[in-house]
Amino acid sequence: MRTYLNHGWLFAKGKDESFLSKKAVGETVEIPHCPVMLPIQYFDEKSYQGLWSYRREFDAPNDLPTQFLVFEGAMLQFNCYLNGEPLGHFVSGFLPVRIDVSGKLKEKGNVLVVYLDSREDPLIPPFGKVVDYLTFAGIYREVYLDSRPKAYIEDYFVRADSNGHIKVDVKTKGEATLSCKLTYEGEQIASFVKEITVPNNRLHLYSPEFPCLYDLVISYGEDKIETKVGFRDATWKEDGFYLNGTKTKLLGLNRHQSFPYFGMAAPRSLQIEDAELLKTSGINVVRTSHYPQDESFLDACDRLGLLLIDEIPGWQFISKEPKWRENCLDFARRMILKERNHPCLIAYGLRIDESADDHELYSSIQAAKKELDPYRPSLGVRNFKESECLEDIYAYNDFSCSDLTHGADKGTSWKGAEGKPKLVTEHNGHMFPTKSFDSTARRSEHALRHAKVISDVGGDPDIAGAIGWCAFDYNTHREFGCNDHICHHGVYDIFRNPKEAAYLYASQGKEGVLQAASSFLSGDYDEALLPPAYVFTDADRVELRKNGVRIGDFYPDKEDFPNMVHPPIKVDDWIGETFDEPRYSEKDAKKMVAALNYAAQFGFSRIHFSHKVLMLKAMLKYHLTFTDIYNTYGKYISSWGSENTVWSLTAYKGGKEVGRIEKGPSLSFHLEVKAARTALIHDDRYDCVRVSIAKLDQNGNLCRFASDPIEVKTEGPIEVYGPSLFSLYGGQSAVFVRTKAVKKPTKAKLILKGQDEEKTIEFEVK
Ligand code: GAL
Repeated sequence: MRTYLNHGWLFAKGKDESFLSKKAVGETVEIPHCPVMLPIQYFDEKSYQGLWSYRREFDAPNDLPTQFLVFEGAMLQFNCYLNGEPLGHFVSGFLPVRIDVSGKLKEKGNVLVVYLDSREDPLIPPFGKVVDYLTFAGIYREVYLDSRPKAYIEDYFVRADSNGHIKVDVKTKGEATLSCKLTYEGEQIASFVKEITVPNNRLHLYSPEFPCLYDLVISYGEDKIETKVGFRDATWKEDGFYLNGTKTKLLGLNRHQSFPYFGMAAPRSLQIEDAELLKTSGINVVRTSHYPQDESFLDACDRLGLLLIDEIPGWQFISKEPKWRENCLDFARRMILKERNHPCLIAYGLRIDESADDHELYSSIQAAKKELDPYRPSLGVRNFKESECLEDIYAYNDFSCSDLTHGADKGTSWKGAEGKPKLVTEHNGHMFPTKSFDSTARRSEHALRHAKVISDVGGDPDIAGAIGWCAFDYNTHREFGCNDHICHHGVYDIFRNPKEAAYLYASQGKEGVLQAASSFLSGDYDEALLPPAYVFTDADRVELRKNGVRIGDFYPDKEDFPNMVHPPIKVDDWIGETFDEPRYSEKDAKKMVAALNYAAQFGFSRIHFSHKVLMLKAMLKYHLTFTDIYNTYGKYISSWGSENTVWSLTAYKGGKEVGRIEKGPSLSFHLEVKAARTALIHDDRYDCVRVSIAKLDQNGNLCRFASDPIEVKTEGPIEVYGPSLFSLYGGQSAVFVRTKAVKKPTKAKLILKGQDEEKTIEFEVK
């Protein structure tokens, strides 16, 4: 039985000795809690590296004899006192701490005091050297009291395979009888003690497409554990990854768990929203770089069928200090124990990201894995190709893509990986940082570089898949990024708003995607050119029209991106069927159109010699001047200062129209405000929902370079976590709405005031 202790903590900066007495004064806060609310950029990361005091009074009305106090995550280490008595010193970081407080609780008026130290400690990974992410501070995950009877289940390990075989191992305390009950969608499937095979006709395999989960109740006398089970085989072979016997290319993104303002203290609801967003991003796997993440994120991945690779805390560095190494091994053990029952987990990341070989440390971590979970493979992430590989899978961060001619190196060139399954665990990132408000050309290239890697890996029979760097822009130390404390490496920005690359990913695994990585406006490009527009879609073709007149059809670009499920569609002919110059012969017309399209992409000063000859010949043959030819360009291709043009793209799939977008000058504007949910629940924890804001034009296109001020107000039992006045950022932003306690269902309002309009979203808090 869990009693959550998330509400009503007293908090103070520094180590406040008075917290141990009744005289304690502080601010009342909620857990998850970040001691310092930082702006999204330009701050001093030292500001959160401090000491903090927390105090919570609570009753423990149940009389169960076994009681544990569980901290799911507190950055970084703490001393804890219960009713004045010291409970000890604990290192949490990214892992839970479970403290046995049996016999120490009073029925009423217990006082828990936590002195937390969030300073970077060189003896605890990931610290010791500078790290490309911020760890932030606070008791940033939930706290609860776990009450158990005298005989109870200390730990359990469930495995279920694609043959329907399920095996349950338990570690128990005290004498009682063990039994397990398996149900599927409320229907009882089996009752057993340790293991059983589910008959074929009742077996529903777990996969990303069908994440079928069974409910398992493990009873030990009075004690009960409820958990989810997925029957599946996740097998890694030298030639790739197999799910339930079917070879499956992995396509993924790396996730940092930090959020604007919250730091790492994003509540459960935002963790779940992230998993849901990633699931609809067209990917089938996520890597929790570079530390174990919130259980609610993993639970959501289980439910959604989003496969997961985890990772021990670290970043490039291994210390020689015995204490650091002890902590590293301890973290690996604790991560396995925390995560081994998740069906979504397909490999343990048991090497510090991009660290050097270290036989002694990594052998001991492998030995720990063998003891705690001999069944699931381990993976080690490197940024070099020759290495001692103690793990089961050789993972490599391939940053060899430096333009659009090359995506990824061949798996056969990874010398240290011989005989092992191979996976690209990062690509792009720092090679092409892209802000959501960068130029259209850059945002388009950012997406295409991801496409290039996906295609190269897609065509490499030796590599199981590719996980891009990364899902979301993230806060980082001053040594990285462009001095604003953000690594703009995400396919989404820090608010989880999509850059063009996000549509590229979505088009690979989601239906109904149609987005063009172009503004179709020459003024938006260098030299007022109009380079090809890349369209990210799962459709079979798109038809381009200019001011309603058909230009032609365009198909997935299988030449540049041969090995993608849905290669981008390259729109590189701005004239096509509209070319109506009777003076040209059919052959000359075709050549002239090609030359003019080339000029649109590269400029007249860079056209080929053959284009020049063609134009010269046309001038002689049809008595034209160069100005005539240039004017033909102006007539057909929207150019600097030319009249408004509306380009439309209609997508077709299986012969049916599936979507249409129109691009052209933005003439009128509105704010689009969206919340994933409006029914909010304030129970053992506060609820929180991300509300996205975007400035759109009359065609529904994002006004990318808008930075309008937005003012926020609330009415009723909600508040906005973050500033109440801010600017749009790449035409978009988001606010995070948090609930306050209510006695009965109560209406609340979020009011967002833009320059010219006001938008209101109504919520109900229960
Ligand atoms: C990698 C590293 C990531 C991130 C990335 C940026 O080397 O593993 O954490 O720093 O570079 O591209």
